[in-house]
Amino acid sequence: MTSIELNPSVLERSYRREDWQRGYNSLTQEFEYWIDEIDGEIPANLQGTLFRNGPGLLEVNGNRIHHPFDGDGMICAIAFQNGRAHFRNRFVKTEGYLAEQAAGKILYRGVFGTDKPGGWLANLLDFRLKNIANTNVVYWGGKLRALWEAAEPHALDPRTLDTLGLDDLGGVLKPGDAFAAHPRIDPACAADGDACLVNFSIKPGLSSTITLYEFAPDGKLLRKYAHSTPGFAFIHDFAITPHYCIFFQNPVTFNPLNFLAGLRSAAECIQFHPEKTTKIVVIPRKGAADKGARQTTPHAALRTFETLSGFVFHHANAFEEGDDVVIDSVCYEDLPAVEPEGDFLQTDFDTIAPGHLWRFRVNLQTGVVDRQLLEGRCCEFPVVHPAKVGRSYRYAYLAAAHATTGNAPHQAVVKVDTQSGGRALWSAAPWGYVGEPIFVPRTGISDHSIGAEDDGWVLVMAFDSSRDRSDLVILNARDLSQVARLHLKHHVPYGLHGSFTPECFE
Ligand code: CO
Repeated sequence: MTSIELNPSVLERSYRREDWQRGYNSLTQEFEYWIDEIDGEIPANLQGTLFRNGPGLLEVNGNRIHHPFDGDGMICAIAFQNGRAHFRNRFVKTEGYLAEQAAGKILYRGVFGTDKPGGWLANLLDFRLKNIANTNVVYWGGKLRALWEAAEPHALDPRTLDTLGLDDLGGVLKPGDAFAAHPRIDPACAADGDACLVNFSIKPGLSSTITLYEFAPDGKLLRKYAHSTPGFAFIHDFAITPHYCIFFQNPVTFNPLNFLAGLRSAAECIQFHPEKTTKIVVIPRKGAADKGARQTTPHAALRTFETLSGFVFHHANAFEEGDDVVIDSVCYEDLPAVEPEGDFLQTDFDTIAPGHLWRFRVNLQTGVVDRQLLEGRCCEFPVVHPAKVGRSYRYAYLAAAHATTGNAPHQAVVKVDTQSGGRALWSAAPWGYVGEPIFVPRTGISDHSIGAEDDGWVLVMAFDSSRDRSDLVILNARDLSQVARLHLKHHVPYGLHGSFTPECFE
């Protein structure tokens, strides 16, 4: 008789890959309804609208796309009012979405490797990238916009989610201009005291140009300024403080030849160099630099600092402390390569480096950079209290793995107390898979008088693989106990980013 040896690590797993995979099925229908299947109670004083964006279609007429980041953007809006919640989802009707749906096939090349059928010949010298509007959705200045970092935003009707068209932000952007998908809202700008939305665009090349934009609450452009930094820059997110904008320039290079020849997608031509350092780029904010910025060089200058290598997509927050600028970021030891023949659904989580939350402390006087691990659990999508953006803060909320070590799909939400080192965890394992958490303060975002920093709720979308449906889960931000679980009538494919506004658009 032979005995069968079981791998104990498999038995201890909190997930099954085939369950996780189903969260990437397309959602082809558009819905709107009042949510009536609810565990618990929706807090009566939770008022406003949660907007979420992410790839909704993972195929075009049966032709699967190569990577979920290439999927057409679909917006979900969940409006909370008087203890009730209303759900609506709509695809962003981009030019590419409409053309491909009409043609019934893939017409554009995706950044992450979705080639048009027909092999290299069909892709040769085809530089058309589809503006898929799938990364974030933000309500600012009375306008709702779907964001995708390589091109202009799409304007949407905040109530119906109807697509209104490409938006040049009141003449700020020229046709084809990039506009990042990660704006930061400064609750009180040093330059003028009002809240402002800060965002950037990157023009990569041998030297990369970073352009910064700051918008007033009415949506008007307040300030625009540009700096260049040597080398190719692949930058997805940034962080702000009252006086600085901070970017992590990851050690990557771009080889465009295979892209131009149609052999590789843009993302497949990016190579990570773990042997090189990551550059921390600190840019003084225009209008604020004269008001307390601590630096020895002329106020307008961009400065770079170097730290140990690692790849960063997202920052939790940044703040100033004496001569230091502190940045908390999710770092990977390696950039997961986008392989031409790879299938993202077959991802082997055990062979990929997990993201961890690190704190970087840059001394602007000495140039010394220290780093410290804040959270060693696999985590991503960090958020903080909106009134603490750019300020010294205590709590970060992240999507996280169920297990304390190793790499795995996100099945939990972790609350990290950056001061005491304390933790709270809510887990949807073994059936649930979560997206980005959003913190909503009890007092309302527009109210500057914040109570306790964790007085509020964490909203998170969770795919329930036992029912092939998604839930919107409301957690008490104090201890991450579950307040309510709202069962949708269908699943929502794993999303990317979203935001909350106290205005209710049901
Ligand atoms: Co992002």
